Amino acid sequence: MNEPPSIGDRKDEHVRYATEQHRRGFAGNDFDRVNFLHHALAGIDRADVDLTCEVAGMRWPAPLYINGMTGGSSRTGSINRRLAVAAAETGLPIGSGSMSAYLRDESVADTYLALRQENPRGIVMANVNAATPVDEVRRAVDLLEADAVQIHLNSVQEIVMPEGDRDFSGWPRQIEAVATRIDVPVIVKEVGFGLSAKTIALLRDLGVAVADVGGRGGTDFARIENKRRAGEDFDFLAGWGQSTPCCLLDAAPLHGIDIIASGGIRSALDTARALALGARATGVAGAFLTILLDRGPDALITAIRGWLDQLTSIMTVLGARTPQDLTRADLAITGDVAQFCRAMGIRPTAYGRRSVAPCTEQHAGPRSAAPPEYVATALDTPTGRR
Ligand SMILES: Cc1cc2nc3c(=O)[nH]c(=O)nc-3n(C[C@H](O)[C@H](O)[C@H](O)COP(=O)(O)O)c2cc1C
Repeated sequence: MNEPPSIGDRKDEHVRYATEQHRRGFAGNDFDRVNFLHHALAGIDRADVDLTCEVAGMRWPAPLYINGMTGGSSRTGSINRRLAVAAAETGLPIGSGSMSAYLRDESVADTYLALRQENPRGIVMANVNAATPVDEVRRAVDLLEADAVQIHLNSVQEIVMPEGDRDFSGWPRQIEAVATRIDVPVIVKEVGFGLSAKTIALLRDLGVAVADVGGRGGTDFARIENKRRAGEDFDFLAGWGQSTPCCLLDAAPLHGIDIIASGGIRSALDTARALALGARATGVAGAFLTILLDRGPDALITAIRGWLDQLTSIMTVLGARTPQDLTRADLAITGDVAQFCRAMGIRPTAYGRRSVAPCTEQHAGPRSAAPPEYVATALDTPTGRR
């Protein structure tokens, strides 16, 4: 029987296949179906735009972060070092890749530590899987002196991954233990298949501070893991899950948890669209990694600075002084995204004139209350807590 690949080998393969996807490009995504209505007299003075935002009580300099990707091998350690330089130069918060490799073998600590060494004053997030016990989450946070911890939910990836986990039954209980006992904010994220409103409501009830919807539209880990397998073909799972705009629309009525968005964010315009759909900040993974590997760290720094500059310009035209102001911008929601809304009982048309029809229902999102089944699920949590 063949030995399963080491975690380090797997991390190298993820980088290779993810960048291949980004180099090949994507034939559009659901953000193309969410467009701002142009109001020609809405413009403001660009000098009045302030990009700062608040996530779980942390002040972030802009609503953009470098999402968790890698570490665990010498190649990915060098990638982390260069990503951290870009984070330090631009002020963006940065996530680590999953730290399971470090938790099993301390000799790879340096491949993660680079994130803090190159970025001593920046906002750094540790990253663990949803089965990680509280003590080990603390070790991961301590290593990076992390400001927050990301817990990734990736059942679809694990199922397709030849050496992946098959038992997800303990995840809710473990997440609750971490959320209630770790003293930095806990962010739960998907890795590109999306969080439903039902899942986000459950996470909130488990004590989680932030949900990163991590939707479909960019890096596709079903495809990546399918390439890594020799046996049965899981090709049919490519494209599984909800896109990032659909996740945000689904989650709009939820309160009591901060929502941020990643998955298929390609430009400053996608950031603005996600903020308009209620995200407090947006994360980018594969696109930034590909710029770094193809063109180097200086190009990534230039790209991030350009992104923030363009976001400021878009907000100026839309009359939004703060990211929060974008949640009142009018949006035309069309095509597959409008179809999704209709299938889920969300009124996409309510977004079209929300700047001039500020009724409570539209401010809260066009579906004013979470459907009753979300409450039922929360009651079903392992501890019965709500
Ligand atoms: C090479 C690579 C490795 C990744 N590894 C992790 C990981 O270890 N933990 C995690 O939470 N997400 C991981 N992700 C997922 C990203 O954080 C993100 O959720 C996903 O790629 C979708 O965002 P994107 O479309 O901007 O790439 C990885 C992404 C890439 C590209």
